[in-house]
Amino acid sequence: HPRIGILTGGGDCPGLNAVIRAVTLTARRQYGATVLGIEDGFEGLIEGRGSELTEERVAGILQDGGTILGSSNKGDPWRYPVVGQDGKTDWQDCSGRLLAQVQHWQLDGVVVVGGDGTMQMADRLQRLGVEVVGVPKTIDNDLLATDQTFGFDTATAVVSEALDRLTTTASSHHRVMVLEVMGRTAGWIALMGGVAGGADVILLPEIPFQWQAVFDKVKARAAMGMRYSIICVAEGAQLPTGGEVVQRMDRRRTDPKRLGGIGAVVAEHIEAGTGLEARVTVLGHLQRGGSPTAFDRILATRLGSHAADCICRGESGVLVAYHQMGTCTVPLSATLAGRRNVPADHDLIQAARALGTCFGDEAG
Ligand code: F6P
Repeated sequence: HPRIGILTGGGDCPGLNAVIRAVTLTARRQYGATVLGIEDGFEGLIEGRGSELTEERVAGILQDGGTILGSSNKGDPWRYPVVGQDGKTDWQDCSGRLLAQVQHWQLDGVVVVGGDGTMQMADRLQRLGVEVVGVPKTIDNDLLATDQTFGFDTATAVVSEALDRLTTTASSHHRVMVLEVMGRTAGWIALMGGVAGGADVILLPEIPFQWQAVFDKVKARAAMGMRYSIICVAEGAQLPTGGEVVQRMDRRRTDPKRLGGIGAVVAEHIEAGTGLEARVTVLGHLQRGGSPTAFDRILATRLGSHAADCICRGESGVLVAYHQMGTCTVPLSATLAGRRNVPADHDLIQAARALGTCFGDEAG
């Protein structure tokens, strides 16, 4: 009977617990496997923190956000923080400790659930001789290897609901409401959430915008009697170049508390450029927390069950992906080929433009 481990690395994401449950139940029920839940990503694998996952431990977690195993962004085994006797932190290669732990636990393979950073480590681990199966995860939906990642649908639903709520207060007070959403390099959440929530202006990292186009849209709405507007801006949208604004933005980006990023800058400019009152909401980690949607629970369950099949049958070095409405496997290294951005001619952008949505560019 196989002995397998499972860990979740990187930022958390709704649907992780559904994967953990699906891997555990499939591996135990179909293959008589022992499943070890490793705590806090690669950190737990290096430090030997883990315990057996049973039917009882995964009962009732399908609908829960987060991950019962914990996660960590700091667990790079090849650059691992080790505190010396002098109290100073040294960054060391701890891959040897990691391999020793895999042997100690007598693991035949490890299911690694994570984004592209975690998959890079998973790929290195596989090349060191550990059997690894990857499950892709990010709310940003920007991994090349899979058509959609679980967590994205939930994040989109949260954005859509937030925009609905902002719309009623915006129309009551005749204000412009700016919602800043996640997406450092890809605008999938802003695009899909923005369209679902009926945003009048959507600003994406992929489409450079001009202030005037945004002001014109807001003013045109007011001229038609709609004295409020809804703006959905991705945190990674590119501000128009120009001295002062960019400098202020840079200060905000380096703010350790991450309070008030691009959304505040957009709101300030709209007030100055249109004379209308503006407010900003930064949705932040609300997009990553809480219960997954039915779609994400189902996608996570399909991927987790398929990953358990692979690892228990000895098919490793693969990533379980979602492609053309079904699950499949691709090489683990497929995630490393780059990010998937929103194409400027995406059909949803075209449809939104046809409906009058402004993307802040000339054609907006
Ligand atoms: O990659 C997912 C993501 O949610 C990004 O959209 C966001 O910028 C980032 O994680 C924030 O992560 P954290 O605050 O956990 O470092």
